[in-house]
Amino acid sequence: MKVAIAADHGGYTLKEEIKQYLESVGIEYQDFGCHNEDSVDYPDYALPVAEKVAQGEFDRGILICGTGIGMSIAANKIDGVRCALVHDCFTAKATREHNDSNVLAMGARVIGPGHALEVAKIWLGTEFEGGRHQRRIEKIHLIEKGGNNRA
Ligand code: RB5
Repeated sequence: MKVAIAADHGGYTLKEEIKQYLESVGIEYQDFGCHNEDSVDYPDYALPVAEKVAQGEFDRGILICGTGIGMSIAANKIDGVRCALVHDCFTAKATREHNDSNVLAMGARVIGPGHALEVAKIWLGTEFEGGRHQRRIEKIHLIEKGGNNRA
């Protein structure tokens, strides 16, 4: 699995901790910044990660800002990205099983580093269930294509 990871200044420290975990378990990743706690704009960091995941260059993306909200809003503007803002273990599992989320957003000012690491581990380690959930994802793709999706 190849992971693209990025953060703004609010998420920089947590990003570094998640990178250490990825290294410790041998998950390949690329860091798309930022590289210190100087103030930056989160869309500039969400965009490359979202694009790389949408293009299939990376299997998954992880985005961290203060709340995770800005990163998730920005990433979800890219067709093919299903970015889930997650701060608990139940949702981390469910969003992989049901939504096949390919980008995880977290807020470093919302969740402590220990909990964030658990969320990331579960999210990285859970498979998509497919079946009826695949049908629902296909309906999201139709929305992206501008199709009439109404039931
Ligand atoms: C930066 O201060 C903060 O707005 C950002 O990290 C994030 O929380 C935005 O959603």
